[in-house]
Amino acid sequence: MQKTWEEIDHYARQWIKEAGTRIRATFAEKLTVETKSHRNDLVTNVDRETERFFIENIRKTFPHHHVLGEEGFGDNITTLEGVVWIIDPIDGTMNFVHQQRNFAISIGVFENGVGMLGYVYDVVQDELYAARKGEGAFLNEKPLAPLEPVSVSEAIISLNATWVTENKRIDPSVLAPLVKDARGTRSYGSAALEMAYVAAGRLDAYITMRLSPWDFAGGLVLVQEVGGIVTNLYGEPLRLLEKNSVFVSKPGLHEEILQKYIHS
Ligand code: IPD
Ligand code: CA
Ligand code: CA
Repeated sequence: MQKTWEEIDHYARQWIKEAGTRIRATFAEKLTVETKSHRNDLVTNVDRETERFFIENIRKTFPHHHVLGEEGFGDNITTLEGVVWIIDPIDGTMNFVHQQRNFAISIGVFENGVGMLGYVYDVVQDELYAARKGEGAFLNEKPLAPLEPVSVSEAIISLNATWVTENKRIDPSVLAPLVKDARGTRSYGSAALEMAYVAAGRLDAYITMRLSPWDFAGGLVLVQEVGGIVTNLYGEPLRLLEKNSVFVSKPGLHEEILQKYIHS
């Protein structure tokens, strides 16, 4: 029989909490750290074990669902048809390795391309940000309030310093004025947490020039559920099977940044 979204949500939360317990237990062990696409792109045995843990559980419980996982243990996804889980077992691996904090498990579950469930779990703080389409978003048991408009002059914007220095993706002079005009800027090193912080009102916007689907899938559902806006830097919808620039923001602020800073 087809499982309901309530049941899928129940299993997802259970697996996320269990994976979190396993990850916390590894803090006492020695990590195996390797590099992937470049010397700062890290992966550990814990990233791989955590992804395998989710995929084994999903395949056993929901054999008709598909999985796109960062570490490659999932399916070779070319279409968004049916139910697709998009998983980043550890978002913020550099923080995981260097700081043992400021990282998260991120999961988005989509049905025919529509975000149905979104989770970002801050493993160290034991904070689960979770959303179900049409049912609101929560931080642990607490409902998250709908996001209110704010202006740049009163906004805290999360942005990596890379994008205002010489880089391959954007002229530094585009975002530098925004950095000057904003009330403050932050950079946490975990896209999923930064999106969850926007959903929770701890940040007003998050801008980055290149993320993979697993970095933003969970946060996308969360932010949309509280009335936030998630697009690429040019105001277009994100493509779930590609890399995108990502611009997450409270309403009002999104239009102000697009009009005054990006399109100027
Ligand atoms: C990274 C983090 C980081 C972002 C990178 C991502 P990972 O994910 O989200 O904040 O700037 O682009 O790759 O590699 O730690 O899962
Ligand atoms: Ca990631
Ligand atoms: Ca990761």
